[in-house]
Amino acid sequence: MKRAIILIVSAVVLMILIDSCYRDKVDALYPLAGYASPCDSASTYNLSIKYIMTYNCTSCHNANNPFAGVALDTYSSVVQQAKNGNLMGTILSQPGHSSMPPGGAQLSSCQIDKLNQWINAQEPQ
Ligand code: HEC
Repeated sequence: MKRAIILIVSAVVLMILIDSCYRDKVDALYPLAGYASPCDSASTYNLSIKYIMTYNCTSCHNANNPFAGVALDTYSSVVQQAKNGNLMGTILSQPGHSSMPPGGAQLSSCQIDKLNQWINAQEPQ
């Protein structure tokens, strides 16, 4: 009987421990969890811009593998590309820029609006 109780208590403690580890990593495992649509979120880095980048850009532009030397996976790296004009230059396929994402599919007008609002508001975090 005592043994059974100890077993059950240990199992519960183990489940709680495993569960809390899992929760710690939710952000890393599911970076897009909680993200509905850029049209529904405020134009801040954490509420929308980060997700637009994650959906469309960071597979090729991240710190470990920055295509063309461009990383877009942190606040400061996106601000840098916004300020030097390359972010919107590539997204809007402006002269002198490659079109991004490559392959011809432009970001939605909603996402482009969010990015413009963000830049006009001095890139709020
Ligand atoms: C499939 C991979 C891939 C994805 C996704 C991608 N890029 Fe690129 N990007 C590249 C490559 C390759 C280059 C370098 C060659 C070139 O310029 O065409 C580049 C170059 C760039 C440059 C520097 C060149 C310039 O004209 O200023 C910027 C800025 C850039 N990308 C931004 C973005 C943005 C913003 C997104 C998301 C909307 C994005 N990229 C998505 C592969 C990618």
